[in-house]
Amino acid sequence: MTKFIITKGVSEYRATIPSCVRPSDTVLEIGFAWGTTTKILSHYCKKVVGIDKGKSFFTAVKTYPELEFHQIDGFSISQVLALPYSFNKVYIDISGCRDLFTTIKILKMYESALNPELIVIKASKLKRFVSQCEVLLS
Ligand SMILES: C[S@@+](CC[C@H](N)C(=O)[O-])C[C@H]1O[C@@H](n2cnc3c(N)ncnc32)[C@H](O)[C@@H]1O
Repeated sequence: MTKFIITKGVSEYRATIPSCVRPSDTVLEIGFAWGTTTKILSHYCKKVVGIDKGKSFFTAVKTYPELEFHQIDGFSISQVLALPYSFNKVYIDISGCRDLFTTIKILKMYESALNPELIVIKASKLKRFVSQCEVLLS
């Protein structure tokens, strides 16, 4: 079963890495921007791949030529599945204040497509909503 960690802000998002990522992990980061978090992830895992639909691809490749980046929209799941890796952890940062529907859509999409152990997402609205919820265990 996939575990979800919902964070607010980039510091909280990055702070999960030392405790959540292991040297045997293959990690996908969706929304690498300039590649800063992808680089941090690379210190903790076996392999990390960053995808981003924006124009920062060339900057990231120039800054971190040792890392693997692809210009792919995170919602194009078929393109992600075509990558030759079996990702067991996923980091998602496609802008923290997206609406709840979009955030939950991408979480469920990656849960069912990759069945990863863990998905960490930067999503302030979702974090606020979940903080208001109480789950009754039956
Ligand atoms: C806040 S920045 C990411 C910062 C980066 N994770 C870091 O820690 O430095 C958000 C990025 O998400 C990307 N993005 C937005 N929607 C996306 C989508 N559907 N698929 C892939 N990338 C997306 C944007 O192009 C942007 O570069």
